[in-house]
Amino acid sequence: MTLTQLEQEIMRHFAAGAASSGAPAAMKAFLELRACLERGEVRAAQPDPASPTGWRVNAWVKQGILLGFRLGALENSNSGALSFVDKHTYPARLFTASDGVRVVPGGSSVRAGAYVARGVVCMPPMYINTGAWVDEGTMVDSHALVGSCAQIGKRVHLSAAAQIGGVLEPVNASPVIIEDDVLVGGNCGVYEGTLVRKGAVLAAGAILTRGTPLFDLVKGEVLRAGPETPLIVPENAVVVPGARAIGKGNGQEWGLSLYAPAIVKYRDDKTDLSTTLEELLR
Ligand SMILES: CC(C)(COP(=O)(O)OP(=O)(O)OC[C@H]1O[C@@H](n2cnc3c(N)ncnc32)[C@H](O)[C@@H]1OP(=O)(O)O)[C@@H](O)C(=O)NCCC(=O)NCCS
Repeated sequence: MTLTQLEQEIMRHFAAGAASSGAPAAMKAFLELRACLERGEVRAAQPDPASPTGWRVNAWVKQGILLGFRLGALENSNSGALSFVDKHTYPARLFTASDGVRVVPGGSSVRAGAYVARGVVCMPPMYINTGAWVDEGTMVDSHALVGSCAQIGKRVHLSAAAQIGGVLEPVNASPVIIEDDVLVGGNCGVYEGTLVRKGAVLAAGAILTRGTPLFDLVKGEVLRAGPETPLIVPENAVVVPGARAIGKGNGQEWGLSLYAPAIVKYRDDKTDLSTTLEELLR
């Protein structure tokens, strides 16, 4: 089946709704999509210079992933004393040394339908959900989450407990995208389609969503998501968690402030030094 045929098949079975359950052709198309996702041949979103954000969402891929949940039946799986129950269409992926991916023992899991490139390091416990793309040389540190369909670039460091949200529905919604060479600090949260451009640094604890204004102290701008565009963190921006005083009403009277992430600088030599990673660990 060519990719165009696969796309048509997936869309057809997705549109068929409950009627697709139990249809061998639907399962065949889904399994082919899942294999293509794992080989990195298709992705939920991909770079596209013609798009205003530089990224295009492949809604049919997300439809296919949703189809897989519809077609799946609960099944048991076991590992030693541990037991699990999940849809049989989304088992945990199994890796061998020839995949070139390091999965350190200890409670990590990569779900079927996720692409994990050679040279990725997975520190336990971490989770990569289906449809996610994790590119070469990226480190997924302990307690990090890569949500469904999230796109993570090359040489990204997802620090301990960094949470990268996923999004399956609506199918045309952009997933969270972290471009190449980004450092996502410990305990950060990046959600709701936020796009983090190349080389940006999110200091520990920064949280970004569609509704979070981002204050660029360097350029004197406030960056926000629009109706059709996500919150975009500019290339090489260094974002730290901040606060802003509430200027009216009870908030002012009570002396409260709201969380306000701020761009304090753009990456310089000092940032490079602060974010240098232990190459020997890779
Ligand atoms: C952002 C970071 C990389 C520092 O980058 P840097 O370019 O060296 O930043 P600087 O030290 O020059 O700081 C620039 C400004 O931001 C402030 N700042 C830096 N980090 C901050 C933070 N985490 N929270 C709030 N303010 C911060 C500094 O005080 C400074 O402000 P000032 O000039 O008014 O004093 C670092 O703070 C960080 O968060 N690293 C990630 C740590 C982490 O999560 N590691 C996990 C490894 S598993």
